[in-house]
Amino acid sequence: MQRHIAVTSKLPGRAVAMLEEAHAVRVHAGDPITDEDRLIGFVGEADAVLTLLQNPVTDRVLAACPRLRVVGNCAVGFDNVDLVSARRRGIWVTNTPDVLTEATADLTWALILAVTRRLGEGERLLRGGGFHGWALEMLLGSAIQGRQLGVVGFGRIGRAVARRAAAFGMTVAYTDTAELTAPDPPAMFLTLDELLATSHVVSLHAPLDDATRHLLDERRLRLMPKGSFVVNTARGPLIDEAALVRVLADRHLGGAGLDVFEREPEVHPGLLERDDVVLLPHIGSATVETRAAMAELAAANILAVLAGREPPTPVVRP
Ligand code: DGY
Repeated sequence: MQRHIAVTSKLPGRAVAMLEEAHAVRVHAGDPITDEDRLIGFVGEADAVLTLLQNPVTDRVLAACPRLRVVGNCAVGFDNVDLVSARRRGIWVTNTPDVLTEATADLTWALILAVTRRLGEGERLLRGGGFHGWALEMLLGSAIQGRQLGVVGFGRIGRAVARRAAAFGMTVAYTDTAELTAPDPPAMFLTLDELLATSHVVSLHAPLDDATRHLLDERRLRLMPKGSFVVNTARGPLIDEAALVRVLADRHLGGAGLDVFEREPEVHPGLLERDDVVLLPHIGSATVETRAAMAELAAANILAVLAGREPPTPVVRP
């Protein structure tokens, strides 16, 4: 039976065509929908909505869209969706894991290398006309070989980041809600505080929820060794950004590599002015192939629910 599907953005790949084969599809064009009222107005009486991470799928939105059976979020993260409300209302929520793991792990390593080897600074210097020839002590970075990478959150992306560490000669420690019996790749389990106190680079791969908001507060940032680095490709609010600015200003940390921010698209002005920070506009999974695969997986999830089947990657099963 044909249903109505609201898609909150143009999508790459075959996703919209997949949905249109069986259903009536409306695709939002124009500015991203970042507030509840516009989202309610757009979804209206639709049976399904394909959302992006900036769409606030709150309890109010779910209450105001009475026909919704499934929210297919086109992201591995789902902190933009009120899962408790969805469960209570009998609405499926799905996400897009796996297909973005390698792209996000690659980007994490791009940031690790960029911040430890001062790539942003080097590029700015050169483009500003400041390169006057090779110099023995120009832009010296920090070696990572033989040092510890601390992975916070040993899920799919955390493990893919850890797998790449061997190629750069780093040892790996991880922390998570529980110790694994056989971590793959092999890595040492530490408490968060132990991991912070002993790692040269800390990389965040935890989901954002009430327990992880400001996981790295000022106390924890100051546990990190002097001259060490923090990298975040997960969600901005995992780090207290104002505290990070203070800790960087004291030169306690060697630098930070950030792809995500506390109040996107805003970036704390104290970060923008620092040379020891590499800043990217939330592009962890941004390859042509990955974004198409994410959109197609989001579409496949919606099609399965509307056909009365179990979706491939559910987050909430009503
Ligand atoms: C996600 O999927 O959650 C990323 O932040 C965007 O790819």
